[in-house]
Amino acid sequence: MIIAIDGPAASGKGTLARRLAAHYGLGHLDTGLTYRAVAAALLASGASLDDEAAAVAAAERLDLSALDRETLSAHAVGEAASRVAVMPALRAALVRVQRAFAETPPGAVLDGRDVGTVICPDAPVKLFVTASAETRARRRADELAGRGEPADVAAILADLVRRDARDAERAASPMRPADDAVLLDTTAMTADDAFAAACGIIDRVIR
Ligand code: C5P
Repeated sequence: MIIAIDGPAASGKGTLARRLAAHYGLGHLDTGLTYRAVAAALLASGASLDDEAAAVAAAERLDLSALDRETLSAHAVGEAASRVAVMPALRAALVRVQRAFAETPPGAVLDGRDVGTVICPDAPVKLFVTASAETRARRRADELAGRGEPADVAAILADLVRRDARDAERAASPMRPADDAVLLDTTAMTADDAFAAACGIIDRVIR
């Protein structure tokens, strides 16, 4: 069983993916963390963010069990991740690792930008989770405020829009819904609503 969840930054796909994995007893991989880990390795070594050979080498050293969400969640790392993510050779190296994870029994929920289109094109369940940019910016700001960090909604919004454009307009595996993905617009939904809607879709496929 493979559940593919794609969508833009701060759409709620990560929270949804974690809940679905726990509910259906599947593994979970946030593929964004793999790009973040490579970006963090390049930043730490002082290599340029467009050094494709260094990025591929970092991808080949990647240990999925050691991805630390806490350190990789830094804003600068997300920004650097979306810059390294344009490199085709890096994407090919990471897709190999991501696909192997997905194909390990009993299966997994993967979330990212190209899970339904490239990593797992045969996944029986594909969701594309979106929300308006304003809603996503507000959610991100609330999340930061909840951690006691400063949050400027206008700056976050500008940032999300720029990152969405970079992810959707790149030549290599751009972010887009797979032709057979179900769109889940969570603008007017709570996290519980989104979870219930996703379970409804998945249970229909399982039956
Ligand atoms: O989802 P997250 O914000 O952690 O992803 C960071 C960046 O990694 C994204 O902006 C995107 O450029 C890249 N990414 C990708 N393909 C994926 C997951 C993430 O290109 N499957």
